[in-house]
Amino acid sequence: MKELVISKIRDGTVIDHINAGKAILVLKILGIDENTKETVSMVLNVPSKKMGKKDIVKVEGLFISEEKLNKIALIAPNATINLIREYEIKKKFKVKPPEIVKGILKCPNRLCISNAKEPVETIFYISVKNGQVVAKCHYCGRNISDLTKFIV
Ligand code: CTP
Repeated sequence: MKELVISKIRDGTVIDHINAGKAILVLKILGIDENTKETVSMVLNVPSKKMGKKDIVKVEGLFISEEKLNKIALIAPNATINLIREYEIKKKFKVKPPEIVKGILKCPNRLCISNAKEPVETIFYISVKNGQVVAKCHYCGRNISDLTKFIV
């Protein structure tokens, strides 16, 4: 593939091998929105040998915590993280789904207490079954598998 769709960064976090089309949700999970002060670049649907197509997000000047980055595994389980300092990759790791997630996901069960008028923070227990990430609601026990649909 002819490099580079986005240029290399000096310092910051690169999230690579994001499932095609999911970069926008990745930004949401990281809490990066129109109010961000960082330089953020994103490409969607670039060709990838391993994945066919993939997305990439680069956040300059910010070293995002591993805990926060691992939440990306909910929707992009193949994502790799590269922490860059002075243009060099200082750390590279694959995201790992957290065991428990608070907030971020919404329970699809209308009768679940987490959807009652009084706001309750959602809690989900995460597991991987047949390579698929699934989440079980702490309050009503509902299992959800296509997590992309339930990100808030
Ligand atoms: N990258 C960057 N700025 C740097 C160094 C790397 O933005 N100073 C980005 C690259 O553009 C790439 C990712 O970080 O998107 C990983 O870089 P590298 O390990 O060099 O690429 P690959 O070998 O293709 O990665 P992998 O082994 O994870 O497939």
